[in-house]
Amino acid sequence: MVVLGIETSCDDTAISLIEDGKDIYSKKISSESILKRYGGIIPEIAARKHEQAVVDILIDLKDKFDLTKIDYIAYTNEPGLAVSLHVGKIFANTLGLILNKPTIAVNHIHGHIFSPFINHHEDISYPFLSLIASGGTTSLFLVNSVDDIQILNETGDDAIGESFDKVGRALGLDYPGGISIDKIYDETKVNKSLLPFPKPNQQFSFSGIKTKILNLINQSNMKNQQVDVIELASTFQYWSINVLIDKIKYYQNEYDTKLITIGGGVSSNSLFRKEISKLNSKNYIPEQQYSCDNGTMIAFLGFLKKLR
Ligand code: KG4
Repeated sequence: MVVLGIETSCDDTAISLIEDGKDIYSKKISSESILKRYGGIIPEIAARKHEQAVVDILIDLKDKFDLTKIDYIAYTNEPGLAVSLHVGKIFANTLGLILNKPTIAVNHIHGHIFSPFINHHEDISYPFLSLIASGGTTSLFLVNSVDDIQILNETGDDAIGESFDKVGRALGLDYPGGISIDKIYDETKVNKSLLPFPKPNQQFSFSGIKTKILNLINQSNMKNQQVDVIELASTFQYWSINVLIDKIKYYQNEYDTKLITIGGGVSSNSLFRKEISKLNSKNYIPEQQYSCDNGTMIAFLGFLKKLR
């Protein structure tokens, strides 16, 4: 079974092909340079970029693969920026009409949930716990099947990746802040007394730590004092990642699950990966290229839905 996956929910345009659960083609056009220029995502600019990028990738793909061999066309239908999703949906449905192939609407977050199993779907065993941590999401799920995904906890304010990006920006680091903060993280510089950890059964919340760091930066600026960028960045990363780990441990105990997966851009964080490997469970972490938004996870979930 060959499934094409189209991902345009945010700023990156990604198109991939999955054959029997295995990645056989994937291409992503990132808008990092535009984002660096503006310091964040501007929906209208992202959508216009998708319009050109989907065509550019299709031209590349048709030289390498016989498009008539595609069985299904999967595309991200939610959640995301409305204008960006719209480009992907129209593109998928138009291609489906031309090739006479059915389309499959795929939830972006659910795509992330199954991304650690790309290339080895036979390893999926239900139920499992899944934590998705990205620029727009911080949610923990109990996954009973492709169609039965129960949300256990989600952020009441900022998503963790969004907080990484805002803190990174305030510290004068390159966008995206998550990658920049991770690069300069230094365990010996962590100030553990900065903010107490919340109770593990409470809702995720990242605005408190973000505001605390932003206030410290403002106070230093007002006093004309130098900001210790590495200390603040490391403290923020340590606190935020440990909140994720505490929650995973709590729900793992509550539901007695032996299998844990993580996904979303923040799942590529080095401290997160290190801490998760210490848990007493079987852990599935997406390969680096499947952690951030990608088309393969959309094609892969389309494949799993049809396999069922
Ligand atoms: O899943 P993703 O590519 O896009 C969506 O938000 O949907 O995630 C992007 C987010 C950004 O906020 C970025 O700062 C964060 O993932 N990120 C990281 C790391 N790499 C990407 N955060 C912490 N550590 C990283 N190594």
